[in-house]
Amino acid sequence: MKLRRREFLRHAALAGAGAMFPAFESGCLHPRPEARLLPSLVPLPEPFQIPLPIPPVLKPVRSDAGADSYEVTIRQATARILAGIDTTIWGYDGIFPGPTIEARTGRRVCLLLRNALPVPIVNHLHGGHTAPESDGYPTDLILPAGGFPSHMHDPLARLADAERTYTYENDQRAATLWYHDHRMDFTGPQVWRGLAGFYILRDEEDDGLPLPRRDREIPLLICDRSFDTDGSFRYPALDRSLRGTPGVDARYMGGVLGDVVLVNGAPWPKLEVASAKYRLRILNASNARRYDLALRISSRAVLPFVQIGSDGGLLAQPLTHHTIRISPAERFDVIVDFSQLPLGSKVTLVNQAADGPAGRIMRFDVTRGERDESRIPETLSSFAAVRPEDAVITRVFDFSYSRADHGWRINGKPYDPERMDARPKLNTTEIWRLQTDFNHPLHLHLVHFQVLGHSGRPGPFDAGWKDTIDLGPGQTANILARFAGHRGRYVFHCHNLEHEDMSMMANFEVV
Ligand code: C2O
Ligand code: CU
Repeated sequence: MKLRRREFLRHAALAGAGAMFPAFESGCLHPRPEARLLPSLVPLPEPFQIPLPIPPVLKPVRSDAGADSYEVTIRQATARILAGIDTTIWGYDGIFPGPTIEARTGRRVCLLLRNALPVPIVNHLHGGHTAPESDGYPTDLILPAGGFPSHMHDPLARLADAERTYTYENDQRAATLWYHDHRMDFTGPQVWRGLAGFYILRDEEDDGLPLPRRDREIPLLICDRSFDTDGSFRYPALDRSLRGTPGVDARYMGGVLGDVVLVNGAPWPKLEVASAKYRLRILNASNARRYDLALRISSRAVLPFVQIGSDGGLLAQPLTHHTIRISPAERFDVIVDFSQLPLGSKVTLVNQAADGPAGRIMRFDVTRGERDESRIPETLSSFAAVRPEDAVITRVFDFSYSRADHGWRINGKPYDPERMDARPKLNTTEIWRLQTDFNHPLHLHLVHFQVLGHSGRPGPFDAGWKDTIDLGPGQTANILARFAGHRGRYVFHCHNLEHEDMSMMANFEVV
C-alpha cells in the first residue's frame, strides 16, 4: 500500500494511539504527549572517568586564495563509547561527533559529502546564511549509491546521486555553528545515530578580543543517548532500517530522552583544567532534552557563566548567569573563570532540570596553575541592530499539538513541501509572532533574529542574535528578522527532532 506522507503519519499515529493514550479510552483527554525517557538496556558507566575528547579539526583537501575544499564520507562505523562495548554509529567520516570544520568569515567552504549509508542523507549547516541549493532543504536528498525507493513527494526536490557539494560563503559574523542531518521524516533517528558536528566560524573582530584561546577554548557538544543490549544507540523507530516507514513508537512522539549524557561523544567525561579562564562553546545537540546548566563547586556554591555569545555570535556586552537554560540546537558561548579556586577543586557541570543520571553532565578538575592574560572586555561587539519600526509585516505562527490527528502542527497544518507558508521580500524586515502550546525550541533557516519580547519581555537567554528560541507552554515571542542575501525556499521548524519529523515544520520563500 502506498500512502502519501500525511496519511501515512496519521495511520502510524493511530495504530499506536491505544497504547499511547490509554486515557483516551477512559474518556479523559490526554492533552499532548510529553518527551519521554527511553532507558538504556546496558549497565550505565561511572561518571567522570573518561577524559573529555575534542573532535578533530577537519583538514582541507585543497586551499586556494578564497576557498577551502573538504571531502567527507558519511558512513557506518564502530565507536567505543562505553567501556568494553562496541557502539555502531553513523558518522561524518565515521566519527561521532563529526570532525570540526574551522571556517573564516569571507572565505568560502566547499564541502563534498559522500553518502556511504544505506539511506538518504541531507546536510544542513545550522545557523548558516546559506544559498537555498546548499542549505539542506529536507527533500534535497543525497541518495545512497544505487538509488532509493522513496515515499516522498516534492517536485522541487534536488536529488543527488551518492554525493553533493555544499557551498558555504561564510558572509556572516563569527559564531559557533553546527552541521547535522536534515532528511525529511528521519532527522531524529539519523542525528541520534551520530550525524552532527561543529562548524566554528571566526573573524577579525572575535580574534581581536583578549579572550581565552587555543587549549583554553573548548567546544562542548552535549547530547543524551540510550544504549541497546547490543551496544547500539537505542531509539524507538518504527522501522529500524530507516529505509521505509518513518516515525516512532507513538509513546515517544513527544520526544526521545536518553539516560546517558554524552559530551563530545563521551559519557559524563572529565576535563583537567588550569586555574584560569576558559571559553566554552556549548551546543545542545540533543533530540528533545533541554538542560538547566549550572557549575557546582559544592552543594551550595556555583561558579557563574559569563555569556559572551549566542547562536549568531558575540553579544554586545557580556552577561552573567548562574544557570543557563539551553534547548535543543541553541549555543551559548561562555567564559568560566577557574582562577579563584584552589588546586584540587572539582567543579561539576550539572543539569538542574533532571534528577538521576541525566542530572549531571561532566566535571572540571582544577589540577594546575597557569599564567592567564585573557580578560573579558566590557564591550564585545558593536553590531547594527535591526529596528522594530523597519518591520513591514507581522506574521503569526502557532505551534501546537493536534488531538484530532495526533500530530505536531504549525497554524494547524502538517509540514508539506508543496505549501508555501510565508513569502518575505528580499531585503525586508519582518516581525514573526511565535506562540506555543507546549515546550518548543523554534528555529528559522537562513536568518538570525533578535527577540523583541518573550511572553511580555525579553527572556534572560534571548540576548544577541538567535536562530533558535526556546518557548515554554503557552508562551509567545516576537522576533525580528531581516531576510537578506538569498532568494528561495527554506524551512522553519521545531528543533525537538521528534516534533520536527512528526510534521512541525513549514516553508518560507524569500522572493
Ligand atoms: Cu538545526 Cu532545520 O535545523
Ligand atoms: Cu516542538
